[in-house]
Parts: sequence; structure tokens; C-alpha cells
Amino acid sequence: MTTELPFTRTPNPTPATPDRVAEVLARPGFGQYFTDHMVTIRYSAEQGWHDARLEPYRPIALDPSASVLHYGQAIFEGLKAYRQPDGTIASFRPEANAARFNSSARRLAMPELPEELFLESLRELVAADARWVPEQAEESLYLRPFMVATEPALGVRPSSEYLYVVIASPAGAYFAGGVKPVTVWLSTEYVRAAPGGTGAAKFAGNYAASLVAQAQAADQGCDQVVWLDAVERRWVEEMGGMNLFFVFGSGPSARVVTPELSGALLPGITRSSLLTLAADLGYGVEERRISTEEWEKKAESGELTEVFACGTAAVITPVGHVKHADGTFAISGGATGPVTTQLRESLTSLQRGGVADSRGWLTTL
Ligand code: PLP
Ligand code: COI
Repeated sequence: MTTELPFTRTPNPTPATPDRVAEVLARPGFGQYFTDHMVTIRYSAEQGWHDARLEPYRPIALDPSASVLHYGQAIFEGLKAYRQPDGTIASFRPEANAARFNSSARRLAMPELPEELFLESLRELVAADARWVPEQAEESLYLRPFMVATEPALGVRPSSEYLYVVIASPAGAYFAGGVKPVTVWLSTEYVRAAPGGTGAAKFAGNYAASLVAQAQAADQGCDQVVWLDAVERRWVEEMGGMNLFFVFGSGPSARVVTPELSGALLPGITRSSLLTLAADLGYGVEERRISTEEWEKKAESGELTEVFACGTAAVITPVGHVKHADGTFAISGGATGPVTTQLRESLTSLQRGGVADSRGWLTTL
């Protein structure tokens, strides 16, 4: 099996007009518009990874018996391409996305994609669609690599054929309200992931399983659902597409705490980066269990000063209010706190080349 695959390049014969690109980039929203091209790479048990292509963005043909349509072997990643001050385009820790993609693949009995091929697939697409990478500070080009099982067969077993695809979508704020604090719903009726399950994988089924609870959160007037552990329904895990951070105290002695990786929550790359950045800024950092009782009690006493969600799509989004079956509480009156703002600024300026990248977290695409 080789990692150096030649790409067959077929440019889109009818790319979006410059006016259309400008119109989309003026108001990209999230995940609504797609660029002119996509990358596809095929896998078969006999040939390994083969047939790498850069081709026009278009519908994919699947056999109706393709196993993803029946048994759901489907994983994905999410990362962004950022315009740098010198006009080049870089991504933030894409090697970590490649590693997580392979960890998801192992959990779902799918083949691993060599890291270099994952990075190469991003470079191919970004090179072809560079004009879709926004210039504005809050915006970027969201890259969505994914893999689905394509073998036409109904036997319940790992597929022997797969399709890997990368698509790209210009992205602005994930939440319609921008960087305003969100209200979250604590889900005790539904669980996202159980011990031994697929919660630590970026597996499509986790998101399917979350939708009914997300709808319940919306019915409660909330923006997002917060998942609790499956066993005691007491320990905070994460949100639908974001990890959570809690700030205790204030000023230089503030402590930044995030739920420990239980095996049921996604090991976010933003989460891991913020643990490092918060320590660099001089804050105490801790990964440990946090219960819903602690959350409410310490928000009410004022010891818990800030809560925020973080992820590639959502960047850092403050959590202002929490609602659960028995009531509602606010964190510091529902305002965005200074540690949240400072960490957001540190992270985004690093991603956009505004400060020195001392850890080599930026990779030019
Ligand atoms: N948790 C879930 C369930 C996610 O889907 C995501 C997004 O990828 C995250 C957390 C945050 O991960 P990252 O920071 O790597 O984007
Ligand atoms: C991301 O942040 O990349 C995510 O995947 C979250 C969500 C859009 C699923």
C-alpha cells in the first residue's frame, strides 16, 4: 500500500463566477455553500487506497446496497483553512485531525488513511479552491473530510470498499447570534454515548443520536444540548459539537477546568490546544469530572465565573444560561467573561498568524 498516490485533476468546467464567490463570502453562514471542487479517494481490500481525484463538486453515486446506507459506517473530520497575513493559507494542527480520523476509523472497523494522504487531500482541495478562503478575521474555509462504506452487500460485517471525500464550505459564525453567550439544556432523558460505545469517535451515528435531544433543547428555548454521562446522568461530558470549559475564580489565580476524557466524549483539538494556551497564560488547568450539582451550586455562589464551549466550528462560544428539568441558572449574570475573551483572542490570533507559532501548530496548505 503506497501513501504517495498521484491525483487525477479534473477542473470544474463551470466554476462559480467571481460575483457569486463574493456574494457567498459576504455572508457565508455555516455549511450552506460549497466550493467548486472535491477530493475523492477509493479504498478496496485488494488495492488499498487508490484512484485519488480532484474533481468538480457534484453528487456521489452509491449502490442502494452500499453498506453505509444500512449499517452506518461513516466517520468525518472538521478543520479550517485560515488566510494568513502574507496571503498564504494555513490549517491549525491538521495532523491531529488526521490522527483522530484514524482513531475513528479503527473504532468503526474502517481502514486507516495514511496521515500524509489526509494532508495531501486538503492541499489539493485548497489549492484548487483558494479563492473561496475568506479574508475577514472571523471567517475561514471549513474543510470536511469524511469516509463511508461503499461495498454493495447486506451482510453485517465491515465493508471491503470505502470512499473518502473532502468537501469545503466557507464559514462564518456557527451560531446565528455570532459570539453572544448561548443558553444550554442539560439532557437527562437522552444520552449521546455510553462507556465502550462510539462517543470518542467522530462517527456520524453520534450526531444522528443527538438530534432528538437537540430538538428538545430548542423546544426549551435553548441553543444547544449538554450531554451527561450515560450511567449516572450527572457528570458533564460535552455539547453536540463542542467541548466545555469551566472557569473558577478570576484574575491571575483563575482555574480553567474541562471534563476529563471519559472515553465517551470527543477529544477535541480545540480543547487540547486551549489547555496548553491557558497554562501559557498562567492559569491553573485541570481535567477532571464536573457534576451538574457542582455547576449549579458554584455558579450560584459565584465561585464558577465563566463557562464556554469550544470546537472548530464554534471556536469559543460563551455559555450564559443553563436550563434543566427543574429550573434555570445563569453564569455571572449571563455575560461573556474575561478569560473566555482572552482565550478566544489567543486562539484566533494564533490560527490567523497574528502571533508567533512557537509550537508549529500551523501547517501551510
Ligand atoms: N465534540 C464534538 C461532539 C464535536 O463534534 C466536536 C467538533 O469537532 C468537538 C467536540 C470539538 O472538537 P474540535 O475542537 O477538534 O473541533
Ligand atoms: C466541528 O467543529 O468541526 C464539528 O464537527 C462540529 C459540528 C459542525 C458537527
